[in-house]
Amino acid sequence: MADRNKREIYKQVKDQLTALLSGEKDDVVKMASIVAVLHAAFPQFFWTGFYRFQNNNELVIGPYQGTPACLRIKMGMGVCGTAAQKREVQLVDDVHQFPGHIACDARSNSEIVLPVVDHAGNLLGVLDIDSTDYAAFDTTDAEELGSLLAEHFSDC
Ligand code: SME
Repeated sequence: MADRNKREIYKQVKDQLTALLSGEKDDVVKMASIVAVLHAAFPQFFWTGFYRFQNNNELVIGPYQGTPACLRIKMGMGVCGTAAQKREVQLVDDVHQFPGHIACDARSNSEIVLPVVDHAGNLLGVLDIDSTDYAAFDTTDAEELGSLLAEHFSDC
């Protein structure tokens, strides 16, 4: 997808979510809405969802759109657990080359995972997006999704 076109879609997604979530405080309400809007906006998003950090040691499935997924992921495991443990975006062009990748659906070929933190820096979970295309995500996605998450979870 051309970068300009992608930026325009993210702008529409962000404007829609800013209006939809105005004044909303509940994290699950926010996650469900973000996933619904993102998944509908980008045809290359095969699986779009959140895992929530719970029990101080694992990621538990949260709101998502797509095929049924793994319910619990230990910190440090797979792409999601790595993003959560390192608190760093994971941009994976070919998931089959990622050591320890967890294949919830064998059709996924590339993936982006971003940590989600609150305004105090506490880990809330991760946003995970998979595509059946290889190298479907780039630094534009990382930047746009990062600012989207910051607006709804980190900003005071
Ligand atoms: N592939 C992820 C697991 C979650 S699913 O893709 C929905 C991982 O390796 O962490």
